[in-house]
Amino acid sequence: MKIFNLSMECYPVAKVGGLADVVGALPKYLNKIEGVEASVVMPWYNKPFVHDHSFETVFDGFIHQNIHEFRVQVLKERGKTLGFDLYLIKVPGLLDRDNPYGYWDESQQFLAFQHGVLHWLSAMKIRPDVLHCHDYHTGLVPFMIENCPEFGFLKGLKTVGTIHNGEYQGQMSWDMAMYFPWYRSENWGLLDWDGFINPLAAMIKCCHAFNAVSNGYMQELFESFRGLESLVRQEGSKAYGIINGIDTEVWDPKTDAFLDFNFDRNDVFTGKWKNKKALCEEYGLNPDLPLFSFIGRFAGEKGADLLPDIVEKSIHQTHGALNIIILGSGDPVIENRLRELSAIYSNFALDLGYKEYLSHKIYASSDFLLMPSRVEPCGLNQMYAMRYGTVPVVRYIGGLRDTVEDISTGGSGLNFGAATADDTVNAMHRAVHIYHHRELMDQLVISNMNFDFSWENSAFKYLQMYRR
Ligand code: ADP
Ligand code: GLC
Repeated sequence: MKIFNLSMECYPVAKVGGLADVVGALPKYLNKIEGVEASVVMPWYNKPFVHDHSFETVFDGFIHQNIHEFRVQVLKERGKTLGFDLYLIKVPGLLDRDNPYGYWDESQQFLAFQHGVLHWLSAMKIRPDVLHCHDYHTGLVPFMIENCPEFGFLKGLKTVGTIHNGEYQGQMSWDMAMYFPWYRSENWGLLDWDGFINPLAAMIKCCHAFNAVSNGYMQELFESFRGLESLVRQEGSKAYGIINGIDTEVWDPKTDAFLDFNFDRNDVFTGKWKNKKALCEEYGLNPDLPLFSFIGRFAGEKGADLLPDIVEKSIHQTHGALNIIILGSGDPVIENRLRELSAIYSNFALDLGYKEYLSHKIYASSDFLLMPSRVEPCGLNQMYAMRYGTVPVVRYIGGLRDTVEDISTGGSGLNFGAATADDTVNAMHRAVHIYHHRELMDQLVISNMNFDFSWENSAFKYLQMYRR
């Protein structure tokens, strides 16, 4: 079975968040299954990976957006270094940028990607068994295949859509329709939701199967989906919930080159301690105190606006009996407040920015990882933390409730109910208490390390969905 994954991100080529981790791992693990050939198609970016690897041009042609003609090139990585074939779509002016997101004309950028991929496949008569579309950026593909005469060769091709984050739907005004490849206008209703073109809604309507990245999140979408609840219920017969895995080859404390000290289950306590000591020294924290961390985008979904209150309240209420380290960036208001707090409290360290190496060090060094998310379709941080012997303290929501069970019901993490600073800080009190019961804490560390979040199981579930 031949599967093409279409995505804006893929680790290690270009990563903004968990989407990249998933697209960089799923095809690699699918390819370990006999008879499966999975590849990734993504935009060309001005990134080190692209310059440091060798590519051959496998297609050179043109597409049209409105009155404009754009050159489309498809580059294939020589050597298959990632464990799958990697194709980059290059369109000068739209798909040759530094980053995946943040441009004023990104609707056009995403359209060029989808158009470019389908144009290439049709022109070269390449017909995989499944096109797997990730998030709304590629959500128009199932519609285009069936409704654009230009892609007639692909008609009937099976399409699957994965919702990594239903908060973003790519809604655009109908004026943008002029940038679409020519389509049969009588089917315009498939693109529409509430008077706008909605690529995520179009994906759900037109694909053959779709999934959310956890069961918990899929259930939540039936109740609350930024206006798409009735649609997802109507299309419910083709809905699946498949939890993400983690790439245990990339995320292995035994071999992780980013760590100061490698460790595994056998020497986890000394290994974690040495990493923690080094990190605490670097950031001026006392390593004898429990270390809580947060890693992520400073966005409302992640509950990042709660962080300043969480920092202040937890330090005050415990009389400074804990440390907190935060790595992230995003909303400047949150960044500024946290910057101020880091100048005031010696128990609080802040590193602003996106730093892959530091995230690994923090997962390995922390005692507890905080996730006060408002929305969490799956969440990978908690799984990385657990694999590195860190206890997750998470809000009971989406993928977090599928992966982290509270210690009170036999699990090895801590859950809390509301996305508020108070609920988070209450859970932190419980965590501090556990930290001082060494035996219990050690038990949690070990049982977290023993969890199996490897991709094998989930890759197999994707294969079952493709087969259906
Ligand atoms: P999301 O994709 O919603 O941001 P996930 O939990 O699925 O959330 O994935 C986040 C990924 O991004 C993880 O690999 C996490 O380690 C990484 N990450 C987030 N923020 C940073 C940062 N500031 N520096 C390094 N890695 C980060
Ligand atoms: C999205 C979600 C996150 C999920 C990731 C990978 O970014 O916000 O919860 O883990 O996609 O599927």
